[in-house]
Amino acid sequence: MAINGIETVIFGASEPAKAAQFFKDFGLTVQRSEGDKTDFRLAEGSHVKIRAAGDPALPPAFLPGDGPREVIWGVDDEASLREVETELRRDREVVRDSEGTLRCVDPNGIRIGFRIFKRQPLEPVATVENTLTSRDRWNTPRRWYDRAEPKLIQHVVFAVPDVDAALDFYVGRLKFRISDMSRGRGVFLRAQGRNEHHNLFFLKNQLSFNHMALGVDSIDELMAGANHMQRQGWKAGVGFGRHRISSIVFFYMKSPAGGEVEYAADGDYLDDDWKPSLWNPAYGNQHWIGEAKEGGSKPAPDVEPLPTPVPRFGALLPT
Ligand SMILES: [Fe+2]
Repeated sequence: MAINGIETVIFGASEPAKAAQFFKDFGLTVQRSEGDKTDFRLAEGSHVKIRAAGDPALPPAFLPGDGPREVIWGVDDEASLREVETELRRDREVVRDSEGTLRCVDPNGIRIGFRIFKRQPLEPVATVENTLTSRDRWNTPRRWYDRAEPKLIQHVVFAVPDVDAALDFYVGRLKFRISDMSRGRGVFLRAQGRNEHHNLFFLKNQLSFNHMALGVDSIDELMAGANHMQRQGWKAGVGFGRHRISSIVFFYMKSPAGGEVEYAADGDYLDDDWKPSLWNPAYGNQHWIGEAKEGGSKPAPDVEPLPTPVPRFGALLPT
């Protein structure tokens, strides 16, 4: 049952033309555009789709306002898809459409789907860093980026009222891995068939969409994208930073399709040898950041191994 990442995120937007322009400026490639419908395709073969909020073909809204209407996960083959279907049908309604996509609702009300996803290999990009003592790039300038061109959907983040129900479902039944836990804040999950630090992050709160992260090659590409977006007049989130959990360098933009969209670069890759940790949220979230809003600029180190077996999220609240 190798879930191999996010195949499609489809958004319902009250201003679909503006939302489509946002993702064009963000660096995504239009695959199909017709009226209020715009489909973007990333190099890995995944999709971001924009639809008018009132489009009757959209799945019904599970959140107030603009935001995702459905997150479709990829699986590697038909056998995996059948395995997912069998598992889901144990306790919930599952619809299989004419193209073979499974659709259901997760325990917190998020509409999700599953379909076969033949991920495309990415073109290798050699980035050679020079430091003061590692002089590896001689007589050759840096690769130059004018714009960003995100190549994959790295993760989505939702606030959910019941984090433990999400863990029972995604970890207990769909074989996601717990990467790390932020005490009282939320849990980072990695799909079994992927190696980024996380493909899902569930924050503890009322149901809402927080953000979607799109992967770029390097900090250089991230900077080029962030600068271009701001020159086009789009509003940034908290500025440049690097999360201590996951090591991801980030730049968030406020999205007219709901929530924020993140450029993400230089994150950690994990496999099943990884040992999850339990983090103080302020220490884990923001190592350095343009506009720190919590914990001051340098929270005290506070991280410990996550016990095995992993306790319930709700049993690890701050003391
Ligand atoms: Fe993120």
